[in-house]
Amino acid sequence: MALRASKRKRPLREKRMLVEKSKIAEKVLDDRTLSVLHYFLSHKLITSLDYPIAQGKESVVFRATAPAGFVAVKIYKYETSSFRRRLIYLENDPRFRAPSGLREAVKTWAKKEFANLKLCAEHGVRVPKPIACRENVVVMEFLGEKGLPYALLKDVWLEDPAATFHDLLQNVKRMYAAGLVHADLSEFNIVMKGEVPYLLDLGQAVLLAHPAAEELFLKDVRNLVWFFKRRGVITSEGEVAQYITGQLDHLDLNNT
Ligand SMILES: Nc1ncnc2c1ncn2[C@@H]1O[C@H](COP(=O)(O)OP(=O)(O)OP(=O)(O)O)[C@@H](O)[C@H]1O
Ligand SMILES: [Mg+2]
Repeated sequence: MALRASKRKRPLREKRMLVEKSKIAEKVLDDRTLSVLHYFLSHKLITSLDYPIAQGKESVVFRATAPAGFVAVKIYKYETSSFRRRLIYLENDPRFRAPSGLREAVKTWAKKEFANLKLCAEHGVRVPKPIACRENVVVMEFLGEKGLPYALLKDVWLEDPAATFHDLLQNVKRMYAAGLVHADLSEFNIVMKGEVPYLLDLGQAVLLAHPAAEELFLKDVRNLVWFFKRRGVITSEGEVAQYITGQLDHLDLNNT
């Protein structure tokens, strides 16, 4: 059942309808989050919240309908303990004030994901286009077709893995040039529109000035190199890192 914004403003009814959603939804739709969704509904940014696409430890991603088509709504959960260990990713970022508590940290995380998506989009990195952010909710372009989300890189068969790797590296290069390290880059956070990769999940991405940026960058590189090695593209972590940072002009990638 889709939730539709009624013509008259009836927040209580909408709230009741939202609360009736599936168990997954109930866990994340606390009163604060419901009022954010109500704000989006009443401002016609979305017209219905359709179904949960995926649920992680920190967030639930829904498909929603908007006047111009589908959008993705990522809701960060307040009721999670795992944010505590993630606080380090919010440090040393002049764009945001250090959060005063865990609830604040969740909101800052959403704001950070939105800012990172914007920065990437401005620098030509293929990411879902950011649309809006309010408290713990990020609204972005829905990446999918016929209403269903695209598959993750880990789950698809690649026609030409070397070409996909090359395309991904162009995107990571642009991201690096924009001053950002993804910090959780892997086949789990990349979706494939056919043979075209999009980077997802940018909440933890840090600026190059972050003290752990280099270590996180090298981990991202390692994840990609290992994944593509399993798909028959052999290359070295060092060369890939140098290629992304611009120290190496050319990188030969071949399918074996
Ligand atoms: N814009 C989008 N369009 C379509 N599907 C999306 C979009 N964003 C996320 N998804 C789907 O939702 C899943 C979870 O999204 P994402 O990786 O951003 O969050 P997460 O892994 O739950 O984050 P966390 O690291 O907080 O647990 C993705 O694997 C993807 O399948
Ligand atoms: Mg993810």
